[in-house]
Amino acid sequence: MILVTGGAGFIGSNFVLDWCAQHNESVINLDALTYAGNLENLATLDGNPAHVFVRGDIGDFGLVARLLAEHKPRAVINFAAESHVDRSIHGPEDFIQTNIVGTFRLLEAVRAYFGGLNETDKAAFRFLHVSTDEVYGSLAKDDPAFTETNRYEPNSPYSASKAASDHLVRAYHHTYGLPVLTTNCSNNYGPYHFPEKLIPLCIHNALAGKPLPIYGDGQQIRDWLYVKDHCSAIRRVLEAGRLGEVYNVGGWNEKANLDVVHTLCAILDELSPRADGKSYREQITFVTDRPGHDRRYAIDATKLERELGWKPAETFETGIRKTVRWYLDNQDWVKNVTSGAYRDWLGKHYGECA
Ligand code: NAD
Ligand code: DAU
Repeated sequence: MILVTGGAGFIGSNFVLDWCAQHNESVINLDALTYAGNLENLATLDGNPAHVFVRGDIGDFGLVARLLAEHKPRAVINFAAESHVDRSIHGPEDFIQTNIVGTFRLLEAVRAYFGGLNETDKAAFRFLHVSTDEVYGSLAKDDPAFTETNRYEPNSPYSASKAASDHLVRAYHHTYGLPVLTTNCSNNYGPYHFPEKLIPLCIHNALAGKPLPIYGDGQQIRDWLYVKDHCSAIRRVLEAGRLGEVYNVGGWNEKANLDVVHTLCAILDELSPRADGKSYREQITFVTDRPGHDRRYAIDATKLERELGWKPAETFETGIRKTVRWYLDNQDWVKNVTSGAYRDWLGKHYGECA
């Protein structure tokens, strides 16, 4: 059995769903169910004994220690985090608590558990930490893409907290011999993406007749990867990654934000045209830029491709079309996650543009 943390969030729930569809190995899913965690993502696993959900905090040493002792997982995969850059700018505290203190306590519980395993179980055990390309900072237009040896230069409270957690994971390998693996991935998109992030927010706002808010000049570049491809990379690193190593994960899909939103508008114009016959592009609105906004991310995933033979299955064009289709087909999911506290966030962050 494996223990997944944060498995009710966007990437974690996609990972758990894919895992249960492809493996005969059970999953314990530990998630605090913050605003970003949603058991509806996992509804298809209701009644499936291979999925055991536990509501709790990765920072709760006693709970994690109990789960490890009871279920004896052969791997821990750590997705749990506060993940939204804009929220980290409004209030960094939760990011420090979960991403740094929480990861530290999780590592402590895993270290104690690992110390008590027999030699065979020790040899098989893995702690896989899911991290981000944002720890490497921002690239200039012509800089080469980030490799695993790039310096850490985080610029937001979110990326700084993820960088700190990556350093702790590294230290637990070098100091205590914990068999760790770290993945640093680019921007994901796909089903169950919470509509505070650019792609699902713009799909949701477009259909609701609201502004599509573009920060600054919209020429910031992100490197997009379909979420299922991120999940397949994590499975491959878990299976064959070298202990203590870091693997960058990315889809070679650099796009300027404005181009991404133009693509979304074009697909929506085709699949769900506006009643007035005009393009959704009319709803694009330029708003104040994000403070400290990183200009460009780009991932060089050569190491993962060469050493472990991983390749993404989707191009941006195929993945984005599937994603728009998923949101059109799952309007109830969107309705449920955009009620209540979500509206408070929009009002606080976008003001009258919400
Ligand atoms: P998300 O915000 O959608 O989900 C995070 C999940 O973690 C939620 O289910 C939440 O309830 C849970 N959680 C939060 N605090 C917790 C705590 N203290 N204890 C237990 N559970 C807790 O995030 P995501 O986009 O799915 O990202 C998952 C991981 O992947 C994060 O570590 C993130 O840094 C990393 N990552 C994300 C992206 C991306 O594009 N979304 C890209 C690269 C890496
Ligand atoms: O690069 C990986 C990271 O990608 C992950 O580590 C983070 O968890 C994940 O949230 C994501 O971070 P970004 O800040 O890149 O994602 P977001 O969707 O918030 O923004 C994408 C780009 O779009 C970014 O340049 C900011 C811009 N943007 C975003 C929003 C929400 C807008 O222009 N308007 C918006 O309303």
